[in-house]
Amino acid sequence: MQFKTIIEPFRIKTVEPIRQTTRAERERLLQEAGYNLFLLRAEDVLIDLLTDSGTGAMSSGQWAGMMLGDESYAGAKSFYKFETAVRNITGFKHVIPTHQGRAAERILFGSLLKPGEIVPNNTHFDTTRANVEYRKATALDIAVPEAHDPAHILPFKGNMDLAALEQTIADYPGRVPLAMITVTNNSGGGQPVSMANIRAASEICRRHGILFFLDACRFAENAWFIKTREPGYADKTPLAIAQEMFSYADGCTMSAKKDGMANIGGFLALNDDALAQRCKNMLILTEGFPTYGGLAGYDLEAIAVGLEEVLHEDYLQYRIRSVAYLGDILTANGVPIVQPPGGHAIYIDALAMLPHIPQSEYPAWALSLVLYLEGGIRSVEIGSVMFGHQPDGSEHPAAMELVRLAFPRRVYTQSHVDYLAEVILYVNNIREHIRGMRIAEAPSVLRHFSARMEPVCGSLLVSGKHCSLIGNKDGTT
Ligand code: F0G
Repeated sequence: MQFKTIIEPFRIKTVEPIRQTTRAERERLLQEAGYNLFLLRAEDVLIDLLTDSGTGAMSSGQWAGMMLGDESYAGAKSFYKFETAVRNITGFKHVIPTHQGRAAERILFGSLLKPGEIVPNNTHFDTTRANVEYRKATALDIAVPEAHDPAHILPFKGNMDLAALEQTIADYPGRVPLAMITVTNNSGGGQPVSMANIRAASEICRRHGILFFLDACRFAENAWFIKTREPGYADKTPLAIAQEMFSYADGCTMSAKKDGMANIGGFLALNDDALAQRCKNMLILTEGFPTYGGLAGYDLEAIAVGLEEVLHEDYLQYRIRSVAYLGDILTANGVPIVQPPGGHAIYIDALAMLPHIPQSEYPAWALSLVLYLEGGIRSVEIGSVMFGHQPDGSEHPAAMELVRLAFPRRVYTQSHVDYLAEVILYVNNIREHIRGMRIAEAPSVLRHFSARMEPVCGSLLVSGKHCSLIGNKDGTT
């Protein structure tokens, strides 16, 4: 008998209590945090979906591996285990450990990019964009046009617009040193990229002598989508699919805090000898010797085991299904989300849910605050607070106003997800009472991390014309 329930493919050996707070406490905590969820204390959050980065639970195998950590400065056994695990999946010649993904980005771009150059990507993640721009180069997002329509359903909505890639290369002769594809496309809704798209982008780059890299943070989730959605891959293992994805690239940047299943770590892996040497030199300057790159030996062990576990089929099936489970409940109840559900997160379309809040008043930011106020849920805005400020100082609204609910790996169970759904449906019912936000103070780069915000009319929720401080649970004042 084939039973249809997809279970969490693990049992729980250690538990970590989570703390209930009252709505009145959360109201105060929000004010104290300058209405910025990044500035809350984690102990004041009930269900923390701020990110799936570094927040996963490690397995008994990973913890056991950590005891084997070799903390030698040079040539540690743990490094070779890590290098073998990375090479087995990616096939890249040089494996350079870093403390997390953005360090790999900084080292790659720092060794490669010159001012005025252009880097096309389906969609840059915020740190990737910031690291490109830090080199005075331009980060160009060229996802397929459907990626900007939250309601549009496509199996591979993370794909790169290949015509735009060709056009960019033609428009900027000699100024595009590399192109990247982010799998899955985090800032575009966690949508996967097809093997055909990766292969075609790679061919274009090779034809023009341009390096082609993957931002591989969620490579295993992307491999699962290829297996379940792309013709010809159903019978292949996630490992074989991942190997094929990497075979088309010249290198990758990776945050092991995602599909490395670790709490910290990352790597840069690549084939080009001369570029690898430049990267290693920069690594020594700022991260550490090339056999540890800012990580402890035990971190390298945890990542080596995690890279193996993340490709298990029962894990990937549970992982992708648990995100889709929330997506299905929200869709059935009319909550607008980016369709179809992504690999690591559900993205609520705040522009569609809160049409009464203009983009200049940050509807996604406001919605994320109300989810915390009402249910103790922490999410993250992926909208105009994150992306609206341009390098030249001007303001442009972001393409979408999304609230991302990112699922830590192996952390929450189905009843947590049922609770989440209940809170979100409640907030959807009182959505007309939600009011917009404005920025009180913010730095010019990566402002979402530290901005202090305030409600435009002194309150997050209002009833009728009157603003109350925040409003009652039923949305009245
Ligand atoms: N690339 C992508 C696609 C990412 O999602 C992230 C991190 C990075 C690069 C940078 O890696 O954090 O290890 O330095 N994303 C996290 C998130 C922070 O919440 O989506 P990092």
